[in-house]
Amino acid sequence: MPLDADKWRAEDAAMDARTRITVNGVVSGPMKVPAGEVAPAGGALADPFGRAITYLRISVTDRCDFRCRYCMAEHPEFLPRKEILSLEEIDAIASAFVRLGVKKLRLTGGEPLVRRNIMWLFRRLARHLESGDLRELTLTTNGSQLARYAKELAAIGVKRVNVSLDTLDAEKFRHITRRGDLGKVLAGLDAAQEAGLHVKINTVAVRNINGEEIPDIVRWAHGREFDISLIETMPMGETGEDRACQYLPLSEVRARLEEELGWTLEREDFDTGGPSRYWRVRETGGRLGFITPLSAHFCDTCNRVRLTATGKLYLCLGQNEDADLRAVVRGVPAEKVDAALEHTIRAAVVHKPKGHEFAISSEEIRGQMPRTMNVTGG
Ligand code: 5AD
Ligand code: SF4
Repeated sequence: MPLDADKWRAEDAAMDARTRITVNGVVSGPMKVPAGEVAPAGGALADPFGRAITYLRISVTDRCDFRCRYCMAEHPEFLPRKEILSLEEIDAIASAFVRLGVKKLRLTGGEPLVRRNIMWLFRRLARHLESGDLRELTLTTNGSQLARYAKELAAIGVKRVNVSLDTLDAEKFRHITRRGDLGKVLAGLDAAQEAGLHVKINTVAVRNINGEEIPDIVRWAHGREFDISLIETMPMGETGEDRACQYLPLSEVRARLEEELGWTLEREDFDTGGPSRYWRVRETGGRLGFITPLSAHFCDTCNRVRLTATGKLYLCLGQNEDADLRAVVRGVPAEKVDAALEHTIRAAVVHKPKGHEFAISSEEIRGQMPRTMNVTGG
């Protein structure tokens, strides 16, 4: 399926040129924004480092039907429901971002498809696709509910889905997810493909669990005409597991693919606006992405911010500054909410940090976040 990557890149470059701003020094600390120090009105959002903010990821729930070992604890304490944004509140916030020039929305979790009535939100947000203000509406899912929703998602205007899958061995799958059913996920993938959704598999590389299996997973994905991205584990929150034992640098995986398997990786000029850097594997014909938050930062080109299920806006996955957008939607008179959201978002992006400081070695873990991935959204 042809993707308009070239067109998107050209648009991004044009947008970037329009919004490039220069601020000396790093703005950090608590989010008290002095008047006047807000990203300029008009034009798209940009941070002090000149990065245009065009991509919002929204965690619609911290709940999930799986308990992946690198992601969350076996018995997590989920957030009380009243703390969670309503679907209407999420729509109001997401729509403010769209008005401010965000072009890509990704719903994540937790598992977004376990949230009740989630199709209402997809349908609502799709109006921005129809108007042309939004370029892409997509989701990251564990695939367990895809068999049920794939057709509807495609009908709504979703073109691509990211499906997390770390092994093709049913027993190992149950081990990694602490409860998942591989068969259901595979059925979900079939349904997605049948519905015409473009699938990208996300595989977290975990030493001693799926490290050895990665070449087989890549071969399988490419045989099914799926793209696949490999991801390094990040030190997000306590999961009851040893991060240093789990961490497998992708430089190591790549060297193995090239040296032991003799694969030829050719750099692909393909950009989905996310953190993956893509290669074409000549031997399989498929596309392989590497997401390397630890071994090779991608912060320089970061265009993303994240909304948690409780309405906190994080400017970086690996930093702690946040802006409370729930306080805005719940605290401001209804007729003033839209303007207040726009102002607060503009003020917040001024605080986007330069980058994260994740590092994992046997001696130390650096940059660890107090929150697990299901809270911030992947
Ligand atoms: N490090 C890296 N990736 C993670 N994911 C969840 N937790 C982590 C972590 N600590 C991945 C999931 C999914 C995506 C949402 O994030 O596997 O692919
Ligand atoms: Fe659920 Fe995804 Fe976390 Fe696994 S990684 S527990 S599927 S949110």
